Amino acid sequence: MAPYIGTPTSRVDGPAKVTGAAKYAGEFNVPGLAYGAVVTSTIAKGRIARIDTSEALRVPGVLDVLTHENRPRMAATSAAYKDDVGPEKGAPFRPLYDDKILFSEQPIALVLAEEWEIARFAASLVRVAYKKQAHSTDLQARREKAFVVETPQKPRGKADKAYAGAVRHEAEYFIPIEHHNPMELYASTVLWDGDGKLTVYDKTQGVQNVQHYLCGIFKMKPDDVRVVSPFVGGAFGSGLRPQYQVVLAALAARALERSVRLVLTRRQMYGLGYRPATIERLAIGATADGTLDAISHEAIAVTSQYEDFYRNDTAWSGKLYKSANAKYLHKLARLDLATPSDMRAPGATTGVYALECAMDELAVALKLDPLELRLRCYSDRDQNENVPYTSKNLRECYRQGAAAFGWSKRSAAPRSMRDGSELVGWGMATGIWEALQMECAARIVLTANGHAEIVSSFSDIGTGTYTIMAQVAADMLGLPLDNVTVRLGDSTLPKAPVEGGSWTAASVSHAIMKTAEDVRKELLRLAKTIPNSPLAVSKLKDTALIDGGIVNKETGRAVSIADAMHHGAVDRIERESTVSFKESKSHAHNTHSAVFAEVKVDEEIGVIRVTRVVDAVAAGRILNTKTARSQIMGAVVWGIGMALHEETLLDHDFGRIMNANIAEYHVPVNADVHDIEVIFVEEPDALINPLGIKGVGEIGIVGVAAAIANAVYHATGKRVRDLPITLDKLQRPA
Ligand code: MOS
Repeated sequence: MAPYIGTPTSRVDGPAKVTGAAKYAGEFNVPGLAYGAVVTSTIAKGRIARIDTSEALRVPGVLDVLTHENRPRMAATSAAYKDDVGPEKGAPFRPLYDDKILFSEQPIALVLAEEWEIARFAASLVRVAYKKQAHSTDLQARREKAFVVETPQKPRGKADKAYAGAVRHEAEYFIPIEHHNPMELYASTVLWDGDGKLTVYDKTQGVQNVQHYLCGIFKMKPDDVRVVSPFVGGAFGSGLRPQYQVVLAALAARALERSVRLVLTRRQMYGLGYRPATIERLAIGATADGTLDAISHEAIAVTSQYEDFYRNDTAWSGKLYKSANAKYLHKLARLDLATPSDMRAPGATTGVYALECAMDELAVALKLDPLELRLRCYSDRDQNENVPYTSKNLRECYRQGAAAFGWSKRSAAPRSMRDGSELVGWGMATGIWEALQMECAARIVLTANGHAEIVSSFSDIGTGTYTIMAQVAADMLGLPLDNVTVRLGDSTLPKAPVEGGSWTAASVSHAIMKTAEDVRKELLRLAKTIPNSPLAVSKLKDTALIDGGIVNKETGRAVSIADAMHHGAVDRIERESTVSFKESKSHAHNTHSAVFAEVKVDEEIGVIRVTRVVDAVAAGRILNTKTARSQIMGAVVWGIGMALHEETLLDHDFGRIMNANIAEYHVPVNADVHDIEVIFVEEPDALINPLGIKGVGEIGIVGVAAAIANAVYHATGKRVRDLPITLDKLQRPA
């Protein structure tokens, strides 16, 4: 096996990150930079009656204040504001477009000044009068008005009828609005390059998406807008769609004909996308021996007044487990909020939370061990499509996870395990996510000294893309890792979609592999130009790139890269190729996990600690066991947050988020995170792609909150179905 793929390789961009050499969107400096500060609405719905910028304009150092009344031209059609990953239905939000207020914290003015402090101060002097309209920001209050969206998943059997005659469980679960809260604030530094050309340093998961988007809004030519995002300080989905600060920064640079930086405040980031609050209703029935009979899964989720955002919440339920009857319903409730957005494993994180809590409750009703119930319903086929998986080693996740956790020592009854003054609870859940691949391109430039540059416009949002690309390239080209450099995050580089959906590793690795084959082909051609070449009669299929040369695997005869290029009279080989993927009708492609959690609950004050989590993951070939483990660990920490801490709180009277800061929006801190063990089970997959890669960016969070919720029930005998499980809810009467 190749020396780098599969090894725990440290991040190749690690030194740049820890020394501060890695620059983020708000850190690029140029002479003459102007600074922006955004003014946002304080009402959730209505119109701007009057906006008075005169006082702000009088502040020395203020250059201009842009509002809907004086902004330069922007496109007038909805289509111009569409981006690659926005909802199909609806009209995307247009910042500073008109006087209409669609959500609280909507940008309504942009102050531009010589200094950031001046811009912020002047922003506080912009006076706004509103014509308010009645708003609604409460999902529970609007649930009856929710409308059904078309989801592709067809029902099977007769879920209602089957459900009528079974051991059953029916309940409603709730996930509140949650925000991504990446460390890096949303920022754009737009360089005015003269002649209307812009270089845009943007915090984004997709530079080419932002490029297309800006071209649409400002009717610019792609060659005139270069979008660069070499490093991203966390995004988790919040950077899939272009955010409004990039529009405003570009608008300002064009208005001033000057370079502009705009960084949002933490509060303003709560005016962007979020994980939609979702009501999940599960009705599941089984025969007395624990065979699932019927599954009905309904979801009601939040969307905005102007776009229909939704993901697959419900169809996981009938896909994952054997059940003859299944049906789904997905509804949306329109609220006066910004459009929700993708957030790590969108749909699955919420839908599978509900499913896996419901399965736990069904196990209790059946008097079955919750793991045993999953095994009895285990399916080697995608139950919705009735096709096999390219690979599915969930069974091994259950086995290895349970063994590492010590699950067999669990005593079944709630409140039956203790550690001193604390109740101990053990819970488990299954996770499932997609193994997607997307069309993308990679370029390799190999020079005669045996150095290779690997290039793609994908972003690395912190997942380790630079590193896995270097590993794959080093193996495919037969070079030491140190001889490989990777360039990413620039719209001028070869085509790539947004980095998201856990699809980057599989897609870009395949593109590198294919391009490396073209490089090998050219090297063989050059090697044959050597008089009496050792590879004179070698066929391409018999060769490999190993140890800085091209080798005939049969004869062992080799020519070094340097010699081949020297004799061929070239000093570099440059190749670029694109890979695309056809959606398979014959196989399902997914990743899976089994999550086991231990909680300890102080019975007197109700404090819950997650003392141990074991997450056993089946995700095909793991390219880098170090960065992949970090992905899963980080996702488990987020699962702890989802279970116990995270909640965006709205004051529905004002339609306004109250805890729009990371002091009052609780996330797990070090003291909340104890022992996390990550297991990657072997999962060879010869069908999904030649390297057997599936991707691990999102699977780590799916199921974690359910495992913890189930552990809390096991510890306390109390079922809290509305997240987060806070101590007040543990005390509330059943
Ligand atoms: Mo992910 S939610 O596709 O960044």
